[in-house]
Amino acid sequence: MNLTLKIWRQKNADDKGQLVDYKVTDISEHMSFLEMMDVLNEQLINKGEEPVAFDHDCREGICGMCSMYINGEAHGPDRGITTCQLHMRSFKDGDTIHIEPFRATAFPVIKDLVVDRTSFDRIQQSGGYISVNTSGNTQDANATPISKIDADKAMDAATCIGCGACVATCKNSSAMLFVGAKVSQYALLPQGQVEATERVLSMVQQMDDEGFGNCTNTGACEVECPKGISLENIARMNREFLKASL
Ligand code: SF4
Ligand code: FES
Repeated sequence: MNLTLKIWRQKNADDKGQLVDYKVTDISEHMSFLEMMDVLNEQLINKGEEPVAFDHDCREGICGMCSMYINGEAHGPDRGITTCQLHMRSFKDGDTIHIEPFRATAFPVIKDLVVDRTSFDRIQQSGGYISVNTSGNTQDANATPISKIDADKAMDAATCIGCGACVATCKNSSAMLFVGAKVSQYALLPQGQVEATERVLSMVQQMDDEGFGNCTNTGACEVECPKGISLENIARMNREFLKASL
């Protein structure tokens, strides 16, 4: 298939940036979206032009690096997948595709489609962990019974890959789905109770300090999240926050 790409090009954080048109031809419908971008970059390199900078690593929906806003949707038109799992069969011959970086004050553009998401790292570092006794007297994990329902919910929350699609999709640039997932992952398990109070207070404070907005219950984040993280996690974080505040 032959496509027109309108791609956000921005030299650096201070550059104003603009959409630039590119043509790609003979794209196979079996290619992934990132392979199509690789084809474009090879063309640009062969012409002596600067290739388009974009983030990627695992290319199998695990690392959360491939943050692209495609035709107005984080990770493109399909549901439950990341940009690297999107295939060109989701588009038609002759289509024009708009490709932009994830946009949020707390995710400043570094170059082209690459944004700085270290704000997520700082939130995680502020409380997204548990203390484990590594003295040699560590308790066997199976010695603490956990209900199947709680284990499943904790596991579902733990599937968040920190991609930031929830933030990019939210009209308030809220990170509450991400933080809700990280808080819930531990709040549902006995191992997470030791630091529970400090964790939620500290992670919410860091989220606010980074400049993310608040949740106004639109639910767009849940729709666009590639891992299907439920809004239920935001409600749980709010309950944990209230409990910790009191
Ligand atoms: S909650 Fe979903 S959209 Fe947000 S960072 Fe986690 S995986 Fe990505
Ligand atoms: S490159 Fe790792 S999730 Fe897309």
